[in-house]
Amino acid sequence: MQDMAEVTEADPVAHNLSRRNILKFAGAGVAATSLAATSLTASGAAWAQVPEEAKTEPLDIVRKGIDKAFEVFNIDILEEQAKKVYSEGTYVFVANGAGRQWTLRENQRAWDDYALTPNRMNGIVRDKIDLSVTLLGEKLPHPFIVTPFGSHGLHHPAAELATARGAAKSGSLLCVSSASTASMEDIAKASQGPKWFQVYLDVDEGFSREVLQRAKAAGFKAIILTVDSIGQGSSDEYERRGKPRPWLPYGNFPAGRQTRFKTDLSWDDVEMIHKVTGLPVVVKGLTRPEDARAAIAAGAGAVQVSNHGGRALDGTPASITVLAPIAEEVKGEVPIIMDSGIRRGTDVVKALARGADAVAIGRPLMYGLTLGGARGVDSVIKYFHTETVDTVLHCGVDKIAALGNAHVRHV
Ligand SMILES: Cc1cc2nc3c(=O)[nH]c(=O)nc-3n(C[C@H](O)[C@H](O)[C@H](O)COP(=O)(O)O)c2cc1C
Repeated sequence: MQDMAEVTEADPVAHNLSRRNILKFAGAGVAATSLAATSLTASGAAWAQVPEEAKTEPLDIVRKGIDKAFEVFNIDILEEQAKKVYSEGTYVFVANGAGRQWTLRENQRAWDDYALTPNRMNGIVRDKIDLSVTLLGEKLPHPFIVTPFGSHGLHHPAAELATARGAAKSGSLLCVSSASTASMEDIAKASQGPKWFQVYLDVDEGFSREVLQRAKAAGFKAIILTVDSIGQGSSDEYERRGKPRPWLPYGNFPAGRQTRFKTDLSWDDVEMIHKVTGLPVVVKGLTRPEDARAAIAAGAGAVQVSNHGGRALDGTPASITVLAPIAEEVKGEVPIIMDSGIRRGTDVVKALARGADAVAIGRPLMYGLTLGGARGVDSVIKYFHTETVDTVLHCGVDKIAALGNAHVRHV
């Protein structure tokens, strides 16, 4: 157990946390699972609080200590491959949406409401196409953001540390969920890449303030306030199965402590976060122009148009459907990030042409993390990069900033 702890704590990815090593520990009873969590959370005490029956559950993370690149053909195929690796419970937890899953499906269907209008003969050199974007002072080589997503330990034993390395490899901005498996301090140290921290406000404001101060001290450059996680959020099928995902402690909180979601959120909370941290605040989970305007009035540095990947309130429209009216209201005063349902480079271009400055990606990156660790995350970003460059080329422009209404039409 000691050997493994040293390897994982020092550098789990670089030391290639091999399947053989993990299985060796699996052979030692519960050690493999407890080990992974102990090394990730930087808090052995947290693991000590995990109920014994949960510890002996055959965590699927035990099988997945890999770090490998692969070619991504499309995200549906990637999801099929990842599905074979997850336990059924974990897959349902990650892939499903809330309620009737209309919003989940709509996040895919609604792309078909918009057609690209290729623009020919403009003499664009493919290799010179510029995907770069600057967000809140951060100059990024492309507009693909790793969205905040809880419990990366469900996908890979190195959890967010692997994601951080994958994001840095591809130059992506990493957004870290407060519900991460690893601690925010460990994630901050795992790579030099740019990072923002996402917070769910707690009913105990003092606790939220402590979390925010830690994020600032750890070096995160902006705070994302997610405002759409105020109830519901889990799928019927996941509930019916008795919430069967493996139990993993959260790395940011004391043993057994989870966020007790503050439901009475208001625009004052944006000001509070800004006051406590002095950092720009991104309000994530907006679907109405009025809310985007109010966010700006409250001092938000950016807004994120999102329906939580169909996981918050079923019946909410697709993000692409509500994006343009929000962009008209925002008028470029703050950057707009869009997420929910991005699966292709053509989706990315449609979003950018309808007014987004950048797109955040969720499940596809988790499938990449599951199948290939840090390099799997990088492989998925590469796929988006290639497809986006190809689509921009067809649009006849040499930079994403030039995309607009001329390149996409409502059908
Ligand atoms: C399993 C799961 C966990 C998530 N955890 C968080 C989270 O901790 N914080 C947050 O702001 N959003 C969270 N989200 C929402 C994502 O940030 C993002 O809005 C969504 O995944 C985008 O949709 P996509 O998965 O279709 O790309 C989560 C989404 C899923 C599916």
